[in-house]
Amino acid sequence: MALAVRSAWLLGHIALVSALTFPIPGKPPSNASSQLPASPIGVSFEFFAYPAYLEDVDATETCLENLEQLTVSNSGDAPTSLTFGPPLLSLAAEYGGSVILGLNRRLDNISNTIAAATLAKSRITNLYSIELGNEPNFYTSSDPIADDKDWTAAADYASQLAWQDAVCGNLSTSDVISAGVYFGTSPMSLVGLTAVESDANDYVKDYCSHNYPQSAGTANLSSLMSHSEIASQIQPYAAEISAAANEGKAHIFGETNSATGGGGGISPTFGAALWLVDYVMQSLILGTEALYFHQGTIGNCQYCFWGKYDMGAPYYGAYFAAMALAGADYIAPLDDQTTAYAAYAIYKSDAPVKVLLYNSDYYSSGARPTQTFTLTGISASTVTTKLLTAPHATSRVDYGDNPTVAGQTFTNGTCTIQGTLEEQTTTVSGGEVSFTVGASEALLVYL
Ligand SMILES: *[C@@H]1O[C@H](CO)[C@@H](O)[C@H](O)[C@H]1NC(C)=O
Ligand SMILES: *[C@@H]1O[C@H](CO)[C@@H](O)[C@H](O)[C@H]1NC(C)=O
Ligand SMILES: *[C@@H]1O[C@H](CO)[C@@H](O)[C@H](O)[C@H]1NC(C)=O
Ligand SMILES: *[C@@H]1O[C@H](CO)[C@@H](O)[C@H](O)[C@H]1NC(C)=O
Ligand SMILES: *[C@@H]1O[C@H](CO)[C@@H](O)[C@H](O)[C@H]1NC(C)=O
Repeated sequence: MALAVRSAWLLGHIALVSALTFPIPGKPPSNASSQLPASPIGVSFEFFAYPAYLEDVDATETCLENLEQLTVSNSGDAPTSLTFGPPLLSLAAEYGGSVILGLNRRLDNISNTIAAATLAKSRITNLYSIELGNEPNFYTSSDPIADDKDWTAAADYASQLAWQDAVCGNLSTSDVISAGVYFGTSPMSLVGLTAVESDANDYVKDYCSHNYPQSAGTANLSSLMSHSEIASQIQPYAAEISAAANEGKAHIFGETNSATGGGGGISPTFGAALWLVDYVMQSLILGTEALYFHQGTIGNCQYCFWGKYDMGAPYYGAYFAAMALAGADYIAPLDDQTTAYAAYAIYKSDAPVKVLLYNSDYYSSGARPTQTFTLTGISASTVTTKLLTAPHATSRVDYGDNPTVAGQTFTNGTCTIQGTLEEQTTTVSGGEVSFTVGASEALLVYL
């Protein structure tokens, strides 16, 4: 058992938290992730927005390359997916990364969907999977697919199975459907869907969830970025991921971001970048294979990683998370995910190579509180660190409060990294080293 010491004294209204101590397990502990995928962090584009991203937004190519260079070992493995409609099949066919094609089920025209799927299969060499319907948990009895009946979980499961059967039968193919595509886990769930899959499971490539922790209107940044609240928010997906794994299939978050409706006022902030880092790590530990962060309409997209003119703060989180995961085989939580303070050990083969520390206390003004993390069991004599920070959790690039990753920023409009790389070197004494991490900051320690 690793020891997380947390003592608190109550002085009036002020709680002082002592240093946290985390022994670094010399090999992946029992609660480490499974083998990590090569490119767990991706982006998803809506079909209508994708051409403009490629043609009008100069930053797109470099922003994607920056992430790929950190994580992807072979170029066919790019961490990007596109959800496309049939009119853009030819553009999808030219795209270098893997393509997830979203086809319609709600309108109940199966011959149309089969025609599109047939064309896609022949034209798109990088076709990764096909979705048969987007977020069917929102369909209603007045949608054509419901045939004037209540659109229940049982109705959707039966419909998904019948469509998988017909589409894969006509395509003479299997292992191609991204199934479920549910927003959240209720009333329809991957647990429920997999329980009724039998033969159809052969058609399934992966099981897909969409997750947006907050709603634009009521979004709360402190809550979004809280380490313990992230743990509770994603807890319902543990059963979804297990259900997929029990069928021998991967789970993906095919579409995700901070808040619904294109994002709320919290979505362009540095706090959302911190959320992204911790959310990715916790989701990978739960066992998901990939998270595709949704990029919406250019010029009207709060949570977007980049736009035509300015970078978005969340991109710094994606970049930092990709840095933490670069070359990694396993990640393990060192804390119990009930406090604001996260520590993760990151392994290459069976050896610890990095530690990620996150102080999720919400910081917006005044003196910045800090938290001390002590790591023990380190064999190196010195370690180096890279810091992810910004003036406040509420900082936004377009307001001039640029985040920095290891002292560097991304150039507006082009996404090239700029500035001098800043790393700190710290001496390890008796296998032990301590770091002070400010509220709303994350630190990556290279062992
Ligand atoms: C279904 O799609 C086909 C094209 O594949 C089209 O010819 C037909 O009119 C559509 N049916 C309905 C009811 O919209
Ligand atoms: C092809 O799709 C149609 C529905 O359009 C379905 O009735 C038929 O069974 C499918 N064929 C195969 C071989 O699955
Ligand atoms: C936001 O959530 C935090 C808990 O994380 C709570 O203390 C705070 O009151 C909430 N703020 C608003 C405006 O609801
Ligand atoms: C993971 O295991 C360590 C012991 O190796 C324990 O201290 C920690 O609380 C656990 N965390 C979770 C989230 O299971
Ligand atoms: C990006 O542009 C905004 C103005 O829209 C500016 O405030 C910010 O400082 C710029 N960021 C960088 C890294 O140059």
